[in-house]
Amino acid sequence: MTERQNIKIAPSILSADFSKMGEEINKIKNADLIHCDVMDGRFVPNLTFGMKMIADIKKVENIPLDVHLMIDSPENYLEEFIKAGADYLTFHIEATKKIELCLDIIGKHNKKRGIAISPDTPVSMLEPYIKFCDIIVVMSVYPGFGGQKFILASLDKIAGLKKMIEDKKSSALIEVDGGVTLENANEIIKAGADILVAGNTVFTHSDPKAAIERLRNF
Ligand code: DX5
Ligand code: ZN
Repeated sequence: MTERQNIKIAPSILSADFSKMGEEINKIKNADLIHCDVMDGRFVPNLTFGMKMIADIKKVENIPLDVHLMIDSPENYLEEFIKAGADYLTFHIEATKKIELCLDIIGKHNKKRGIAISPDTPVSMLEPYIKFCDIIVVMSVYPGFGGQKFILASLDKIAGLKKMIEDKKSSALIEVDGGVTLENANEIIKAGADILVAGNTVFTHSDPKAAIERLRNF
């Protein structure tokens, strides 16, 4: 059974205007989390920002920061992102061999432990770690850019992951990242999502707060 009342919305600031980040954050004050996409130009073919941006956003509003690391060898940077103010810290399972170490570092600092999987990675890869995760980020686009089209096959992955979480008695929440719109949000929630990331849908809307409300109340 899907609980629809507790859906959390995490606007992705990748779609915001970086030259006025403070104002952009003020437009999304009703967000549950602020999704921050960190890219290194190696794990993904794009570069964004690092810990300085996280630390600066932390000063604007008291909304938990959901930091999505799309970087190689995340174990080398976790402590710095925690210091900068990350509340949720997610790394990619494809980006490191030191998965347990990453989970340990995040957990040791009492931050939310997240693992992300790219579209071609099967849910079964998560099985050994699922009990130690607070969130799983299912990428519903290839990581690297905002504004892409939702990959439909993600719906089955979400449902499969939901089943694994129940079977393994994990308390992990499912976050779906990429191509979430006002048109497909309902279906994604029905498949089992707990948290929706939305970049373009929120920041290109004439009223970002209203877009967040609509996504949350499907
Ligand atoms: C993609 C990022 C996503 C992206 C989502 O690599 O991880 O978080 O910003 O943007 P939209 O919602 O526009 O697809
Ligand atoms: Zn993301």
